Amino acid sequence: MKHELVLVLDFGGQYNQLIARRVRECHVYCEVKPYNTPIEEIRAMQPKGIIFTGGPSSVTEEGAPMCDPAVLSMGVPVLGICYGCQLMSKLLGGSVAQADKREYGKTGITLGESALFAGIADRASTCWMSHTYYIDHVPAGFVVTAHTVSCPTAAMEDASRGLYGVQFHPEVVHTPFGTQLLHNFLYDVCGVAGDWEMSRFAEESIAALREKIGDKKVLCGLSGGVDSSVAAVMIHKAVGKQLTCIFVDHGLLRKHEGDEVEEIFTRQFDINLVRVNCADRFLGRLAGVSDPETKRKIIGEEFIRVFEEEAKKIGTVDFLVQGTIYPDVIESGAGDAAVIKSHHNVGGLPDYVDFKEIVEPLRSLFKDEVRSLGLALGIPESLVWRQPFPGPGLAVRVIGDITAEKLAILKDADAIFREEIRNAGLMRDIGQYFAVLTDMRSVGVMGDERTYDYTIALRGVTTTDFMTADWARIPYDVLEKVSSRIVGEVGHVNRVVYDITSKPPATIEWE
Ligand code: XMP
Repeated sequence: MKHELVLVLDFGGQYNQLIARRVRECHVYCEVKPYNTPIEEIRAMQPKGIIFTGGPSSVTEEGAPMCDPAVLSMGVPVLGICYGCQLMSKLLGGSVAQADKREYGKTGITLGESALFAGIADRASTCWMSHTYYIDHVPAGFVVTAHTVSCPTAAMEDASRGLYGVQFHPEVVHTPFGTQLLHNFLYDVCGVAGDWEMSRFAEESIAALREKIGDKKVLCGLSGGVDSSVAAVMIHKAVGKQLTCIFVDHGLLRKHEGDEVEEIFTRQFDINLVRVNCADRFLGRLAGVSDPETKRKIIGEEFIRVFEEEAKKIGTVDFLVQGTIYPDVIESGAGDAAVIKSHHNVGGLPDYVDFKEIVEPLRSLFKDEVRSLGLALGIPESLVWRQPFPGPGLAVRVIGDITAEKLAILKDADAIFREEIRNAGLMRDIGQYFAVLTDMRSVGVMGDERTYDYTIALRGVTTTDFMTADWARIPYDVLEKVSSRIVGEVGHVNRVVYDITSKPPATIEWE
């Protein structure tokens, strides 16, 4: 049976991803489509409800984005948000006027009677506003159900037609009753049963992938990261041995990580895995190189070369898997071609591989949704909750030139740090934590002997977006344990320091 679907029509607003996410949090599956999606396509999707997003345009502008007006007479409930609300008004004969000044930020709001506000005790609440135009005349058949001091139509509706509009943004946390409002729209207005859960999504997506791929061949580059792993397992469950995964082990992964990847994918899932052990090749290419950007470039190029060599052995494939997730998909309000970020994919899109089509099983999901999908598919927690790891790996954590000896020191020190963070139960509290091998050596004393050895720097940050970060307040006793274990157990290290700079001005990585 097909699951219930709510369609979000994207008019280019900045919170569109959040709307989709909130709907799924209410256990309703949701897809975002461009505002100009043809009406036939929308009908074929059989949505239980439709949400118009906000957007940067004004409905009074020439060429302002419009959907097919027939969307409003399909008999399917519609909720217009911000621009979407004004568009609904305009399409049905209401009018908008320009305010003297933009209403922006947290705003007091008075709520009247509406199915949207059911169960919301506080009738004088706050909401998040961001608009310059407001609806001065609602369309025939509509009533105003909420207002603010400067916005006479903060919410409007024609309940008999299932049409609702709100000028504010219910999807952001600054509208405290927003989640309840969306829940009310979905359950009371659209009448959904709320049947969406990850395991069901997994089953249905796997069935759809099986149909799409048929008996064709699929290739997947596996990095050991969350996204490519979950994508690979989805395809494997759909088409089994028609999938081949190439895992380029450049020797710059953390201690035992390459073996763990191999173990999970071959033993647990019986996936066709080609592990290319090429640590020496990468070390050779990196010998004597100390500039961080040159290291990145060399690794990126070499990675592509290795992947290409292996892919050639496999020959032409029909599909290439990409672990693209929703935040990677930057869709313009005009619904133009999607742009895929290449920054964090080593080498970007592998256009050098002979394939006919790309398949992206995670394209509609957020990171935390990918994680729950991973768990639903039976991927171990250690992999699903793996912290972000840079494509160039430990190469950017050995400061200066890289040797096999330095890499071994770093791997051991890093493993101890991670183990102690795990023992202290802090893994989920710290966004990213790792050791860095500085290229500084200093004097120490061990027993009766003078030493002249390396300094290990520990880095731990808390962050929500990795664009800014604060240094994690790791308890002193945990740091003490890590420090004494590293100096005691790892050769050639006699000093451990903790990095207490935020980003900015520092970056998370040291290189
Ligand atoms: P920075 O050091 O710029 O890091 O504060 C922000 C986030 O990006 C990761 N990072 C990289 N990821 N290739 C990657 O795939 C890279 O070259 C790279 N450099 C940094 C870093 O680990 C952090 O999560």
